Amino acid sequence: MAVHDLATAAVAWYDEHARDLPWRSPDATPWGVLVSEVMLQQTPVSRVLPVWLDWMERWPTPADLAADASGEAIRAWGRLGYPRRALRLHECAVVIVASHGGEVPSEVDQLLALPGIGSYTARAVAAFAYRQRHPVVDTNVRRLVARAVAGAPDAGPTTTARDLTSVAELLPEEPELAARVSVAFMELGALVCTARNPRCTDCPVETTCEFRRSGAVAPAGPTRRPQRYADTDRQVRGLLLAVLRESSGPVPRTRLDMVWSDADQRDRALTGLLADGLVCEVDHDNLGLPR
Ligand code: ADE
Repeated sequence: MAVHDLATAAVAWYDEHARDLPWRSPDATPWGVLVSEVMLQQTPVSRVLPVWLDWMERWPTPADLAADASGEAIRAWGRLGYPRRALRLHECAVVIVASHGGEVPSEVDQLLALPGIGSYTARAVAAFAYRQRHPVVDTNVRRLVARAVAGAPDAGPTTTARDLTSVAELLPEEPELAARVSVAFMELGALVCTARNPRCTDCPVETTCEFRRSGAVAPAGPTRRPQRYADTDRQVRGLLLAVLRESSGPVPRTRLDMVWSDADQRDRALTGLLADGLVCEVDHDNLGLPR
């Protein structure tokens, strides 16, 4: 298909069908966009929404979060999972205040230098908050482009420099329009050009999609096997951290001993939480969230 057809079709489809999400509103601040992108990295929109709304109400600017204890960020993270992201966001807020006058920086290089901000997130913030032209490439976008342009059933396992250049080639020159195309690609990949059972008959590029034209069909049936969570160290870490989140002050070790009966696994989980800085020793007998 002609490359600009994909951009044009995606934007027209997006205007009609996109989800109305608060971080996509013109009122969203760069800080709100940054927080949303970090929360959305490994977590579905439906779970992120309530936490993002609470977070923005409590800490509407980086300075508000930087002034609070990092443990409060961990507490407010709730059950989103991968809670190191909460610590990284707190560190980001501190650096934004110390080095950028409290404003989320607008340049990709500056964004990449923030704690925990990688290639995807830096470009997502520059594009969605600052309306710049950058390839914003997540797994959904890679799959969409692999199918519609390259005629492949799916994209490779990781994002390469080649993926960034091939998506950049699909973007119109004008920055505001390029930013709209970027979010439209993400949404089309997330809602229509899904990994399994894609909704090709609802797709705005059904007739020009190279994969569809090849006559091949995308995989049907169940998605890949979900990662096991039950009985993993990650689950035990989650249980321990939940006790600390739900307590307003220090928690005795004896209370934590009750959440999991396998002492070796429990110790391993707690050692990991301490090493990650998600939990601190208040004194010999008590643990708490960092201050
Ligand atoms: N809109 C902008 N970025 C998004 C993301 N990562 N997930 C869902 N919607 C988004």
